[in-house]
Amino acid sequence: MSGTVTLSNPSAKTLDDIDFGLDLRVEIKRLCAEKNAIILAHYYQDGEIQDLADFVGDSLDLSRKAAATNADMILFSGVTFMAEVAKILSPNKTVIVPDADAGCSLEDSCQTAEFKAWRDAHPDHISLTYVNCSAEVKALSDVIVTSSSAEHIINNLPKDQPILFAPDRHLGAFLKRKTGRDDMVLWPGTCIVHEQFSAREISRLKTRNPTALVASHPECPDSIVEVSDYVGSTSGILNFVNDNPATTFIVATEQNILHQMEKDTPNKTFLAAPGADGSCNCAICPYMALNTLEKIYLALVNEGPRVEMPEDLRMGALKPLERMLELAPTAKSDQNAA
Ligand code: 13P
Ligand code: SF4
Repeated sequence: MSGTVTLSNPSAKTLDDIDFGLDLRVEIKRLCAEKNAIILAHYYQDGEIQDLADFVGDSLDLSRKAAATNADMILFSGVTFMAEVAKILSPNKTVIVPDADAGCSLEDSCQTAEFKAWRDAHPDHISLTYVNCSAEVKALSDVIVTSSSAEHIINNLPKDQPILFAPDRHLGAFLKRKTGRDDMVLWPGTCIVHEQFSAREISRLKTRNPTALVASHPECPDSIVEVSDYVGSTSGILNFVNDNPATTFIVATEQNILHQMEKDTPNKTFLAAPGADGSCNCAICPYMALNTLEKIYLALVNEGPRVEMPEDLRMGALKPLERMLELAPTAKSDQNAA
């Protein structure tokens, strides 16, 4: 559990207290209206959560939405670092999460003390850090980026400016190639979901579906990027499959994104990219999967678990996030209303 997530008090309601007869969707909507709360959900959330959310998006969309909402309370259905961003941008709002343990392997790979030592060892480098990191690591960074904003931000840095990029080495390597920046030093973190896809199994699936196009997320290793027709953020992938005239797509990212695709273009076919054993179960993020309708209901009843942090940490993390929001392009329809 992250240090910024405070558990509900001991008298809080638990899963055992939920009445079986309750219509959770109706109750969640009622509680949101009563508490002036909104639900933000990432594309990797289960389909029933996406359908219930007020807003579904990628990391950048959700950061923007968190900054702009007038709600008193934000229920963030995603992972902790995303809810932290909401709190950093909206300190006067109550930010709650369905499950206090919804972390991220990239965040875990990049601990504050090691990151600080890395920065200290490269005093001439600007530090660009992927949003999938803790508030502490954000506070030690110069600019935060997301998969949909990173390339644009790097291209606008002076050409002779060396860069430190953390924590995803695959996204870093992809950006290095795309931007032609040789002077990027990469932190060695990976996403446990995206590193499990198999290029060999994807190619076998393509042999059986010869017209299929492959769309992947840049958190995937190089071997997957090489067999892809498109590489981009979750919203980028959604735009690609919506706009492309092809009718079959192999999708190499967390498989709950297929829910939005099937909603947007029900006449197209979407195949989840397989892992090394030929199955696609590896494409479920175990952290995102901790969130359920029951826990969303309980979080609204209990007004917790809550994201809270000391003001100096918040201010430290706010600066590089604001730089990202200033520098990031407002891409065409990188937002999908639920
Ligand atoms: P985006 O939605 O920004 O593409 O990020 C993917 C991801 O892994 C979030 O954890
Ligand atoms: Fe982290 Fe990977 Fe899960 Fe995204 S999919 S939250 S990067 S573990």
